[in-house]
Amino acid sequence: MPTLINPQTAAPVASLTGKKLNIGLYGFGCVGQGLYGVLNDTPGIRVGIGQIVVKNPNKRRNLPAHQFAFSPDAIRNNPSIDAVVELIDHADDAFEIVQQALRKGQSVVSANKKMIAEHLPELVALQAEHGGAFLYEASCAGSIPIIRNLEEYYDNDFIDRLQGILNGTCNYILTRMFQEGADFNTVLTDAQRLGFAESDPTLDIDGFDPKYKLCILTLHAFGLFRKPEEVLNLGIRQVTAHDLQFAREKGYKLQLVATSQKVNQNQLVSYVLPHFIPEKHLLYNVSQEYNGVIVQTAFAEQQFFMGKGAGGYPTASAVLSDIAALTYNYRYEYKKVYQQLKLEALAQYPLHVYIRYGHGSPIFERLPVHNLEARYEAGDFNYVIGTVDLQDLHREQAWLRQNDVFIAVL
Ligand code: HSE
Repeated sequence: MPTLINPQTAAPVASLTGKKLNIGLYGFGCVGQGLYGVLNDTPGIRVGIGQIVVKNPNKRRNLPAHQFAFSPDAIRNNPSIDAVVELIDHADDAFEIVQQALRKGQSVVSANKKMIAEHLPELVALQAEHGGAFLYEASCAGSIPIIRNLEEYYDNDFIDRLQGILNGTCNYILTRMFQEGADFNTVLTDAQRLGFAESDPTLDIDGFDPKYKLCILTLHAFGLFRKPEEVLNLGIRQVTAHDLQFAREKGYKLQLVATSQKVNQNQLVSYVLPHFIPEKHLLYNVSQEYNGVIVQTAFAEQQFFMGKGAGGYPTASAVLSDIAALTYNYRYEYKKVYQQLKLEALAQYPLHVYIRYGHGSPIFERLPVHNLEARYEAGDFNYVIGTVDLQDLHREQAWLRQNDVFIAVL
């Protein structure tokens, strides 16, 4: 476990008496431009952008060219910068930027879920060692303030389950396919145009993006560091009109859901899988690019958060909230890690699923299905309902992603 920060002795982020927080901004894509917009539209905010660094000098941008620099040194060597805001796309470059700033004791805000999920132990340790704060509310569930709530509100409550729709793109695609019978690729193109999808949309449609978010939330909810490669993610790439028809006939909606839940006192199971969601479920009405998160706790019981999960302005609102939090020296304390809940990750876990497969598919040679409840075969529409083990899905996930098989939890 990495060393944790002591908030009592940590250095303040910036001395802000009567002065604006001057930020160095990396990246001017959808969220960067959204941040520029929300800062301009927020009267009285004590935050200014001191420097913007972007990668490509030839890209057309909607601000005068002299406002941009192209070397990270323009921020790194600028002594007037109080804090760094990292909103670039590339996870490895983002880690380099964040790491260097934290090593200087600077505070950093980021929205890069892949980078954060892949480096959580180092990022927690860097804050403890050098004193800077690292805030990343925008990395999970867009505009929903879920990390801050997990850190603060549930401090003394025990979380049993965290479940949510954590990817706006997939929810947008599934909503439009379900409601309008729209074609998958057409709606994905719309999601890209609207700034919901990742620049590599595989991360969305194969469920990697919500998995990164789940790993981050699992640390704040349960105090457990989960490596992304150890968590199963199957997405919606293979969904067809047949699967949506099945949902309609049974009164369900199809949604991509991320879950971390305690199975007993000391074991936790985590996975991202499509689910058939019944009408009475809290997630049923989460549509379009909205996200929804249900937190089930020992004392508060069930609570539900909903808000826009993707898009420039909604995501920028979370970045803005983090920047504002730096002005009063807020930092994550990783309280659940401190509490030493002694949870361990569970690999084997039975799941009640629908499996739709192409004619002649060797699916049952690859995936043991137990307690077979239903089997339907009609040439181009074949499915079974039964129980599979999470461990078997994990072992076969690469094969499952590449073949005409669609799996959803019932
Ligand atoms: N591509 C992400 C999504 C963006 O669709 O949810 C917000 O993290």
